[in-house]
Amino acid sequence: MAGRTDTQAWPMTRIRTRDEADVSTCVEALRSVYQASGYPTNWPADPGRWLRPSRTLSAWVAATDDVAVAGHVILRQPPAGERSAEVSRLFVVPVARRQGVAFALLDTAMRSAAATDLDLILEVTDHLGAARALYELVGFRLVSTAQADWTKPDGRPVTLHRYAWSRGGTAA
Ligand SMILES: CC(C)(COP(=O)(O)OP(=O)(O)OC[C@H]1O[C@@H](n2cnc3c(N)ncnc32)[C@H](O)[C@@H]1OP(=O)(O)O)[C@@H](O)C(=O)NCCC(=O)NCCS
Repeated sequence: MAGRTDTQAWPMTRIRTRDEADVSTCVEALRSVYQASGYPTNWPADPGRWLRPSRTLSAWVAATDDVAVAGHVILRQPPAGERSAEVSRLFVVPVARRQGVAFALLDTAMRSAAATDLDLILEVTDHLGAARALYELVGFRLVSTAQADWTKPDGRPVTLHRYAWSRGGTAA
């Protein structure tokens, strides 16, 4: 589904549906991502809730041979009358990066969307260059760039890039 065929190059990555018992481990993983990469831009007051936002449609975690929760992603339901679910809360812990974990998570989300006749959208902040490279690799298309209606902890503005992916091959 994603834009390359060598997922078998990373046989150690296993993707499964997140369950409630995973959430505290996911919060620990998110903390390491925040410290290493500044994601999320603003550390949430309740990170467990932040990982389970409204309109959560599906949530997956990735395990490797070495890390029980190496990565995480969710899909959020489209707003009423729309056909694009949102990819959100994607992250991989620093020690498990560049092993195809995010690729495998996104591939799972894209296959799930296609199976339910949904397209995908997502937003990514300007400073997350690795994520932008990944989204473009798997077939997302940049559709707009705008200033967010929220700011960094120090009050500086945030630039958001919006990407789209269509199961039919042309982004909405
Ligand atoms: C972005 C992120 C999820 C990528 O996770 P990952 O598991 O390391 O990514 P993968 O190993 O699946 O990478 C697949 C491809 O994406 C691209 N990519 C990934 N990381 C990259 C980087 N640091 N620089 C350039 N390209 C990168 C590469 O093309 C890579 O393939 P390659 O390793 O064969 O060159 C991870 O770096 C992360 O958690 N970053 C902080 C949180 C974040 O940015 N989340 C996105 C929120 S919108």
